[in-house]
Amino acid sequence: MKIFAVYSSKGGVGKTAAAVNLAYSASTSGQRVLLCDLDAQGAASFYFRVRPGKNFNGKKLLSGNFSKFIRASDYINLDLLPAHFSFRNLDLALAKLERDTRRQALRKLFTRLEGEYDVLVMDCPPNMTLLSENIILAADSVITPVIPTTLSLVSLKQLLKMFKKVGADDNRINGFFSMVEQRKSMHKKVIGKYSKYAIFRKTQIPYLAEVEKMGLTRQPVGATSSGSVAAQQYSKLWLELWERSERR
Ligand SMILES: Nc1ncnc2c1ncn2[C@@H]1O[C@H](COP(=O)(O)OP(=O)(O)OP(=O)(O)O)[C@@H](O)[C@H]1O
Ligand SMILES: [Mg+2]
Repeated sequence: MKIFAVYSSKGGVGKTAAAVNLAYSASTSGQRVLLCDLDAQGAASFYFRVRPGKNFNGKKLLSGNFSKFIRASDYINLDLLPAHFSFRNLDLALAKLERDTRRQALRKLFTRLEGEYDVLVMDCPPNMTLLSENIILAADSVITPVIPTTLSLVSLKQLLKMFKKVGADDNRINGFFSMVEQRKSMHKKVIGKYSKYAIFRKTQIPYLAEVEKMGLTRQPVGATSSGSVAAQQYSKLWLELWERSERR
């Protein structure tokens, strides 16, 4: 099982849109996929019309007793572990664990799913906390959307710093340009300057109304229209990310 985290310390950069659509792309290519919604806001769960089970909460997640709360989605090969409001306290719960193992708690939890899924995708909250450190250490690949502006590049630098802090290999970072608007000179300039760096994948996700409309359709863009530009770009990005993860 390969673990992908869609993570950035910056909010509103397209993490959830990417997590939902990349998980869907992976499932249509025949892989057994679990999408874990780790953000208490529950946006990924909302897109898949899935609510957490009655007795689910952050405590149950960290106890490892969470398999029974995994839900099937409307799509073949794609399951979801929904978020719960109590996930906003995951950091506090992690901080109470033993000092030398608390950064590895998430990785340890996911080993229980080995053999059941080929791909695990985490949709992560925009934090820089102990949970973020857990996410980085659990992931084989950290997918990070970058809107081509200077502020987004700052959060990329922060990510590199976090990798250093926890001793993770920064080769695992996969940046991609998100919500790209070619008519904006700032976007063109930033992409021109930074796309050559090894941290960035080639595929970009443009700013597209189809992605925004997911709030209404509550479906991945590929389920609404597999031929749409958005669906094709996310499929292309998934292929690029998967092929890179296979080479490593
Ligand atoms: N490529 C895109 N084109 C147009 N709108 C987009 C695109 N990607 C995301 N959006 C929209 O931008 C908003 C933020 O996107 P999203 O929720 O995916 O970001 P996020 O990084 O997960 O945010 P948060 O940090 O709050 O979890 C949403 O309304 C979403 O529909
Ligand atoms: Mg989100």
